[in-house]
Amino acid sequence: MAIDQKAAQNAAHSALTRGDFPARFAWGTSTSSYQIEGARRADGRVDSIWDVFTGQPGRIRDGSSGAVACDHYHRWPQDLDIARDLGTNAYRFSIAWPRIFGDGSAPNQKGLDFYDRLVDGMLERGLQPWPTLYHWDLPQTLQDRGGWVARSTVYAFANFVDAVTRRLGDRVPQWITHNEPWCTAMHGYMDGMHAPGIRDLPSALQASHHVLLSHGLAVPIIRANVKDARAGIALSLHPIRSASGSAEDMAAAHRHDGLRNRWFLDPLFGKGYPQDVLAELERFAPRIEPGDLEAIAVPTDFTGVNYYFPEVIAHAPGEGPLDGRVVHKAGVERTAFGWEVAPEGMLQLLRRIHAEYGPRVLYVTENGSTYDDVVQDGAVHDAQRTSYLQRHLAALKEAIDVGVPVEGYFAWSLLDNFEWAEGYTRRFGLTHVDFDTQQRLLKDSGKWYRGFLRGQS
Ligand code: FCB
Repeated sequence: MAIDQKAAQNAAHSALTRGDFPARFAWGTSTSSYQIEGARRADGRVDSIWDVFTGQPGRIRDGSSGAVACDHYHRWPQDLDIARDLGTNAYRFSIAWPRIFGDGSAPNQKGLDFYDRLVDGMLERGLQPWPTLYHWDLPQTLQDRGGWVARSTVYAFANFVDAVTRRLGDRVPQWITHNEPWCTAMHGYMDGMHAPGIRDLPSALQASHHVLLSHGLAVPIIRANVKDARAGIALSLHPIRSASGSAEDMAAAHRHDGLRNRWFLDPLFGKGYPQDVLAELERFAPRIEPGDLEAIAVPTDFTGVNYYFPEVIAHAPGEGPLDGRVVHKAGVERTAFGWEVAPEGMLQLLRRIHAEYGPRVLYVTENGSTYDDVVQDGAVHDAQRTSYLQRHLAALKEAIDVGVPVEGYFAWSLLDNFEWAEGYTRRFGLTHVDFDTQQRLLKDSGKWYRGFLRGQS
């Protein structure tokens, strides 16, 4: 694209205002417990699988852990002030299971007290709380009994959800059961990139089934405990493209889509597991008990979409579980992580979910980018992140204009934080965090979002 054409397009994106979106839109930022809270041993918290995983040599790029992270457990009032000052009206966070269920069978009141204070802090600041019940920090005690491969973890999750929603349900109507079951199952149990670091396809598929089942059991519990409850799940979804027009690549792309997207969407929307994937992976298929698929297909009030990048797939016999390979084409705009920047991919994805599955409401529960930010004279000039944000919001508006029922957007992330296997080497925040001093500094992208939300962009 010619430079002046691109500049004109950027100007058009930055001219977008909050007023171009529906009035009751949820505008937020997103975080998760293990990535920001720190306070590993505070108030009866027990170890999660991430405490153990980060302790194993070679697992985390910079050898770090979330033991301190952003120290949000102690600094949350300041962090919620940042969210309020941005002009957001919603805040997505997650509840750390190891703070609530430790060694005993009764819930840990001190852990519940923390989230009680946090929720009140949000409400005082005009932020709708959007809790996620599972964002990957499984108590290690449950991992010792098999983790998500064991069916007993499904029931333990139901018990946890019951305790949390009883305590917070009087103030929190909306609940997200799981964050990105694909990552829980596939990074956790197939490629071992995430805790618990297992590499075994049958375990991964069994784990995925149990995560989905636990969602299915959680939804009615949420509805029983919370008046006017709105329950849903947040999925990591990707537009899948074929590396070429060849029949082989196209078939490989379809198979990849099967495990990446349809393996989760299909059962959640009452279609069962996709037959083509089951046929391919027959030998490794999960054990499904009578009634499981009905439980998973419980109607939800919304679907959360975490959108980061599209994937290009080529046929590659013997590679991956489905004979396919992710191809990195040259000459494509990418973030520092190598993730393709493709706002039109978000539009395409949202349209597809709407057309093929018809969820009542959609939220973009995560979207964001990482760049190698530098602090210069007390500022972070992250023009690329601002541009990323602007272009994705423009795509979001287009989706709404063509009739996709999107009712909110949560930027990942409020703060730089512990980025899982990448440790602190990947900064996704609208706010820079100096992990030595715990100083917070709003980046230029955060200032842009603030201007947009407050009608000054
Ligand atoms: C998502 C995760 C989130 C964060 C972003 C960058 O897959 O849900 O915790 O790591 O990626």
